[in-house]
Amino acid sequence: MPHHRTLAPPEQRRSSTGAAAPVIHAELRRHYDALYDLLLDGRAPRDARPVLDAGSGDGLALTAITQGTPLRGVGVDIASPGQWLGPPEWDVIQADVQRLPFADGVFHSALMVDVFEWLRHPIATLGEIARVTNGPILVVQTDWEGLWFQADEAEIGRDLVRAFTKGAPEHLRSRISSSAEAAGLDVKAVSTVSITADRLEQGALAWDLLESIRRYLVIESAQVRARRFDNWRSELQHAADEGQFAMLVRRVVALLERNPARNPA
Ligand SMILES: C[S@@+](CC[C@H](N)C(=O)[O-])C[C@H]1O[C@@H](n2cnc3c(N)ncnc32)[C@H](O)[C@@H]1O
Repeated sequence: MPHHRTLAPPEQRRSSTGAAAPVIHAELRRHYDALYDLLLDGRAPRDARPVLDAGSGDGLALTAITQGTPLRGVGVDIASPGQWLGPPEWDVIQADVQRLPFADGVFHSALMVDVFEWLRHPIATLGEIARVTNGPILVVQTDWEGLWFQADEAEIGRDLVRAFTKGAPEHLRSRISSSAEAAGLDVKAVSTVSITADRLEQGALAWDLLESIRRYLVIESAQVRARRFDNWRSELQHAADEGQFAMLVRRVVALLERNPARNPA
């Protein structure tokens, strides 16, 4: 499986009733609610749909944003869908978001979460999403450059984190804005959201992110020895048990819209 950095929960877990239930990290709940509000952009949900989710992966981020809401639409991913953990009412298709099999303006909103950094042609891709979307386009990308772990007031594990975040785009915020403008889109709003976490226990965001980092560094890419990683992990756990742990991760959130004057449908 390719290494795809994401803040989405790593997998669906069993709830106490035994049913599969999507995990939504408590640290991200407000952030996801804010993303939902941005996507609506002041409209009623019925006016915001259908929604295009560009690069939906297994759909867990989509679930986190739209669960319990009447938003419906289509998830598109270039990779084979595998197990779909997104909202069951949504359609899912396999396609490249740079060449979407949809007519102009059929969607009333679009979102793209943690996909921007993987795009080979971001300008063409944003232009294509704008072609099929008559409404706001929400682009969310974790700024991995800002990922940071602290224990006992000291930043630790910097080299391990760097190995995990290697290749992530620099100057992400201006990169997203300039790609959008080059694609003929207006940047209606762009912000950097900081997400902090101080819990390190099962089900917490920092716990799951550390699991992903371990899986990538120790297992998938085999660039770090398990013992070295696990020593760092125990140091963080020790700090957390003493109430001395902190993690910070940033996300760039951009609300874009096709400018009819610059880019007539
Ligand atoms: C890090 S995952 C994010 C998945 C999901 N949006 C989330 O936040 O959890 C990136 C996804 O983008 C997809 N992707 C990358 N380039 C794509 C393209 N050109 N067209 C469609 N999907 C693409 C990958 O297959 C992968 O599933």
